[in-house]
Amino acid sequence: MSNPLALIVDDEPDIRELLEITLGRMNIDARTAEDLHSARQLLESERFDLCLTDMRLPDGNGIELVENINQHYPELPVAVITAHGNMDSAVQALKAGAFDFVSKPVDLGMLRKLVNTALKLERNDTGAARPGNSKQKPELLGKSPAAERIRTLIRKLARSQAPVFISGESGTGKELAARQIHQQSPRADHSFIAVNCGAIPQELMESEFFGHMKGSFTGAISDKQGLFQAADGGTLFLDEVADLPLNMQVKLLRAIQEKSIRPIGAQREIPVDVRITSATHKDLAALVESGHFRQDLFYRINVIELPIPTLRERRDDIPLLADMMLSRIAAYTGGSKPRIDRDALQALLGYSFPGNIRELENILERAVALCENGIITREDLQIPTDPAPERTTPLDVDPDMPLEAHLEQVERNMITTALEATHWNKTAAAKRLGISFRALRYKLEKLGLE
Ligand SMILES: Nc1ncnc2c1ncn2[C@@H]1O[C@H](COP(=O)(O)OP(=O)(O)OP(=O)(O)O)[C@@H](O)[C@H]1O
Ligand SMILES: [Mg+2]
Repeated sequence: MSNPLALIVDDEPDIRELLEITLGRMNIDARTAEDLHSARQLLESERFDLCLTDMRLPDGNGIELVENINQHYPELPVAVITAHGNMDSAVQALKAGAFDFVSKPVDLGMLRKLVNTALKLERNDTGAARPGNSKQKPELLGKSPAAERIRTLIRKLARSQAPVFISGESGTGKELAARQIHQQSPRADHSFIAVNCGAIPQELMESEFFGHMKGSFTGAISDKQGLFQAADGGTLFLDEVADLPLNMQVKLLRAIQEKSIRPIGAQREIPVDVRITSATHKDLAALVESGHFRQDLFYRINVIELPIPTLRERRDDIPLLADMMLSRIAAYTGGSKPRIDRDALQALLGYSFPGNIRELENILERAVALCENGIITREDLQIPTDPAPERTTPLDVDPDMPLEAHLEQVERNMITTALEATHWNKTAAAKRLGISFRALRYKLEKLGLE
C-alpha cells in the first residue's frame, strides 16, 4: 500500500521543510504549496489524505482554502496553522470546517497526534464497524426530520475536533448526543469522560480537573490524575457547564487554549490532547449577558452549537421511543413487554413533556409497574394535566392597533417560532404551519423576515 499523501500550504520555506520532514518520518508523503493558487492546482491534480495550511498566505486567507476543500473535497481533513495566541482565527477556521488547528511555533508532538487523528478520519470513511466497537450502545432513535437532523450533524461533528456546545431542555438527550459524537469520532478508542460541573465541591474542583501531586495540600496523600489527563486522546464532556464557578472558568479557559494543564503542586505543565464538548439546559448566552459566565470561555466552548429539540417538537417519535423503552424495561425486569392501548397512546401524543425523553422514560417505568394483563392504559400513565397553554401570540395587544397590523404580528410570531423550532428549515417550517413552501416564502418576503 502506498504512503498517505499530505498537502502542506505555507509561504515560509522553513516551515514547509520542517513539516515535510516531520511527516516523512511518519511515512507520509507530502506536496507543498506556497500560496492558495498553487494549493488549488495541486488539489485538482492529486488525491490527498490530509491538508495542513497556514492562515496568512500571499494571495489570501487559509480560511478560503478550508472553505474550498469543504465544498469540493468534503472527505479531506484540513487543519490550519495559526499564529500563537490567535484564538479568533482558530475558532473561525473550525467554524469554516477545519477539523483542528495547531498554533505556531508548531509543537511537533501535537502535530503528530493531529496528523494521526486526521488519517484515522480518512480510514473511517467507509463506516465499516471497527473491532472492539461492536458492544451494544444506546442509539439515538427517531424518524422525525428533527432526529434525522441531529444524527446528520453528529456524524459531521464527529469528524471535527472543534468544541461543541450542546443546548436543549432537560432530558432531551444532550449527554447521549455527546457520547455519540465521541463514539463516531477518531477518538473512540480513548476515554469519554463526562463530568457534572455542578456536582463537584468547589474546593476540590481544581484537583478534580487537573490532578495534584502528593503533599501539595493537606489530604493529598498520593499523586492524583485529573479529568483532563484521564480524557487524554479522548473527549471531556463538561455537563451542566453553566454551573462552573467563575474562578474555575478562568482555569478551564487556559487549559483549553494552551492544550496543557498543571496539576496542583506540579513544576511543569503537561500537554493534553482532549476534545471538549459541553452542555447545559440553561441559557448560557443569557448567563454571559448577566456576567455569570465568562464571555471568552463561552466563545471558546461554543465554537459549534448542537441544539437538541424538545420532545414536543418531534412528537412523531413518541411511539417509536415508547416502544424501544418498553422493550428495554421488559428486558431488565425479565417480564414480557407490555402493550400501550390506543387511548393511552393518544394521551402520550397529546402531552407536552416538560421533562422530555427522560420524562417519557419515567412515565413508562411507572406504567409498567402499574399495568395489568400486559396492557398499559391511560390511567397507568398518570400523566399530569398540562397547564393552560401559554399565550405566545399577542392577543392582548393594544386595542387601538389596526386589525391588519395585529394579524401580521400574529403571523410573524408563528412563523418565527416555526422557523426556530425547525432550525430554519423552511420546508419543515411550512409543514408545521400547514402552509405550502411557496406560501411561506411569500410571507417571509412580505414580512421582511428573509
Ligand atoms: N433519541 C433518543 N433515542 C433514545 N433514547 C434517548 C434519545 N434521546 C435521549 N434518550 C434517553 O433519554 C434519557 C435522557 O437523555 P440524556 O441524559 O442524554 O438527556 P440530557 O439532555 O442530558 O438531560 P439533562 O438536561 O436532564 O441532563 C436517557 O436515558 C437517554 O438514553
Ligand atoms: Mg445530562
